[in-house]
Amino acid sequence: MSFQPLADNLKPLDVFATIADDLRRVETAIEAALSTREKMLEEVSIHLLRAGGKRIRPALVILSSRFPGVSLDKVIDVAVAVELIHMATLVHDDVVDNATLRRGRPTVNAIWDNQVSVLVGDYLFAKSFTLLSETGNNRVVRLMSEVVREMSQGELAQMASYFDVEQTEEDYFKRIAQKTGYLIAEACRLGAVMAGAGEEEVDAVYEYGMGIGLSFQIADDLLDFFGDESTLGKPVCGDLKIGILTLPVIHALHHSPMRGELREIIGTRSIGAAEVERVKEILAASGSFDYAREKAREHIDRAVRALERVPTLTTRPVLKTLADFVVNRKF
Ligand code: IPE
Ligand code: MG
Ligand code: MG
Repeated sequence: MSFQPLADNLKPLDVFATIADDLRRVETAIEAALSTREKMLEEVSIHLLRAGGKRIRPALVILSSRFPGVSLDKVIDVAVAVELIHMATLVHDDVVDNATLRRGRPTVNAIWDNQVSVLVGDYLFAKSFTLLSETGNNRVVRLMSEVVREMSQGELAQMASYFDVEQTEEDYFKRIAQKTGYLIAEACRLGAVMAGAGEEEVDAVYEYGMGIGLSFQIADDLLDFFGDESTLGKPVCGDLKIGILTLPVIHALHHSPMRGELREIIGTRSIGAAEVERVKEILAASGSFDYAREKAREHIDRAVRALERVPTLTTRPVLKTLADFVVNRKF
């Protein structure tokens, strides 16, 4: 099977220009991984490829592997595997959240149905682990299987916390580490592992990735309040409506002078456009959005500091620029 019109919705980040050739190899390898004779799977794969994505995770694998003497072939396989896991989790996540729009297109569950989404997600997970096992490195397989387990636990924790006004900031950070942080951190770590970097360096890029990942999710949660649907490619203010309470909300629930009213609104478990507007007013007046931005910034600073411990990594300036993108991103 050949995919003629390639991802027309790809949004390559300027910072990735330095690894454009590698990312093209990743793209070709993703196409190959999704290539199948099975009709339905083929249609879904074409849909997923056309929808594109920022390809941040495979880029991080590559960028974290640029230690002296690295051979890139196996790094590309791992980069592809990481993106396939990301794709699988998005396909499943849209079922869990009942989402209809992703990357500016209808979701797989919207075009086909939940059954197809579950099976395609499983297929992508399995394919990813085939690629990982082909590295011949058992540690790589084990680390990634732990990440997938954490992601599932994070999603379950999130479901258990819908509309829960008692949840703490600590609960939030644990959850976002599970659903976003670990995979991004692992992308970085596996790049370094595949490059044969020393354990000190492996730890440093992992810490960089965790800082980036947590900030990335806090930014994602803020974009749910302030983002623009057409740039984001998904509807905004969806989290609150389905009961996902993110950092600014949790901050206000514990610290706002208006927390009584906020608890009441969330306690109704029925949040429409008018309620979202009122919640936004309360959060803005309580400094809760500023608080979340501050936290995102703290984790980015921690990520950038970790880079000091990998002096031989030639891509450090790119990773630094990427860190700035994460806190300022609009999509
Ligand atoms: C979205 O990830 C899901 C989160 C973990 C926040 P991305 O924003 O990287 O999604 P794509 O791949 O660019 O669509
Ligand atoms: Mg979700
Ligand atoms: Mg979602």
